[in-house]
Amino acid sequence: MEATDIEHSLVIEGEFDALSIEVKAPDSLHVGVAKKFPAKSNARKVAKALGARDGIIFLPGQWNMNWEDSDQGPPFRQRRYFYYLTGVNFPGCSVTYDIEADKLTIWIPYTAPSTILWFGNTPGPEECLARSDVHDVQYSNKLSEYLASRLAKVKTLYVLRPSQMPKFVEFDNLKPRLLIDTASLQPVMDEARVIKSEYEIEMIRKANAVSSEAHKQVAMSMYGLSNECEIEASFLSSCTAQNAHTQAYPIIAGSGPNASTLHYDANNQPLAGRELLVLDAGAEWDCYASDITRTLPVGSTFSPEARAIYDLVHQMQEECIQRIRPGVVFRDLHLHATLVAVKGLLRLGILHNGTADEIFKHGTGSAFFPHGLGHHVGLDVHDVLSRDLLRPAGESMWGKRRPIGPSSLRAMVKQAMAGNANANDATAASGDRQWNMLWPNMIVTVEPGLYFCRPYIEAYLLRSNQHKNYVNQAVLERYWGVGGVRVEDCILVTDNGFENLTTAPKGAELLRILGVHH
Ligand code: GLY
Ligand code: MN
Ligand code: MN
Repeated sequence: MEATDIEHSLVIEGEFDALSIEVKAPDSLHVGVAKKFPAKSNARKVAKALGARDGIIFLPGQWNMNWEDSDQGPPFRQRRYFYYLTGVNFPGCSVTYDIEADKLTIWIPYTAPSTILWFGNTPGPEECLARSDVHDVQYSNKLSEYLASRLAKVKTLYVLRPSQMPKFVEFDNLKPRLLIDTASLQPVMDEARVIKSEYEIEMIRKANAVSSEAHKQVAMSMYGLSNECEIEASFLSSCTAQNAHTQAYPIIAGSGPNASTLHYDANNQPLAGRELLVLDAGAEWDCYASDITRTLPVGSTFSPEARAIYDLVHQMQEECIQRIRPGVVFRDLHLHATLVAVKGLLRLGILHNGTADEIFKHGTGSAFFPHGLGHHVGLDVHDVLSRDLLRPAGESMWGKRRPIGPSSLRAMVKQAMAGNANANDATAASGDRQWNMLWPNMIVTVEPGLYFCRPYIEAYLLRSNQHKNYVNQAVLERYWGVGGVRVEDCILVTDNGFENLTTAPKGAELLRILGVHH
């Protein structure tokens, strides 16, 4: 290699006017540090949505934790609402936003030298100011003094929930004259977070690029691998080597019947003799998630049954992706995917004794496609307002407090939803924004699947004689070995359509990489 082949820039060293050469890291390692985290703009968006001209927003960040009776703990994970206002990803911080003064301040811990010896230093004020667009960074020992003086003057303190109230001695004296609002912040932050900023789109694009590359690496090395654990290891190794150290959710590498367990996580079975492998895996980039699923034929046993289901799920996905644009009700897309599935299963003879329309309306399709078509992706893999995506029109959650609870991990599809389909009833949104509808700059997954989970399907068919009547048991018998097929991409809604942020090979392209003839 010639020196001139190295990407570099010349840097003038201030003090001596000397020249030094700074070798540029590959672009991929730069994304995420090149742009400042737009914390001010996020805070202003939230304050505007609150409709408040005065008050203090206060959010504590996450602290380090240890397991019970142990000096070890889980990997640090920053609180997402806190991160949204700061871009700060280390423990022990807080944030205040003074709405009237338009002043966003991050409060950081001082790290003692004895702690630095063991764990390294935490970022100081200059580093935080360089990384995040905020007005000020202060050490936390000044926080109570600041809060005491500001809270004595403003009317309202906004916190996310009662457990996140500030904790300092004088606070009790201030409480009687303060309006403490523990209800308004979360809904408005959800509504801010669900529409992604340019910065967030770049982060999620990067998370997708890293994970797509890792999916491709797995496909290229697939035939050297003989156990699900090696698939998991290969994916993880590729992400880590690209400097993405955190997965957005536990890797699912399920072969054969394991592919029909939606959140399978054992990842320890041999691949030999299995037809398909579902690999659902996505890394985070700077706290932003990706969520990608590919289904890969295992070895040369790509049976006609597996092939047919593989093609059908890709068709379900492609037809839904092509329909994505602002104004589309996401539930309609789910129903469309179900209809495509029912038609396909009829063609294959797994369904019979009825028209596609009849079987679709009866809800038999969700025995095979039992989860929602997708969810939002952002600071969480199942990002804020994901539950609202699958609601019918008219059932807006606008203005109501949403319980946090475990998010709709690939929400189960109720029979009522799958069956009583009236695509037209879902388009009559009016008034405030309807969060079951797609808006520009949302990022959603489109992840149809068909599964042959024997216990689930058998139990499902017991629900009605009509279900049983629509299913041809003899044909179904040939499909148990297929296990399951899912394909999942992250799709950005643009002003007049969509952009697929996931570049991992799929469909015919994936089969070519795997050397499977088609
Ligand atoms: N990987 C979790 C999901 O697809 O929702
Ligand atoms: Mn998903
Ligand atoms: Mn997934």
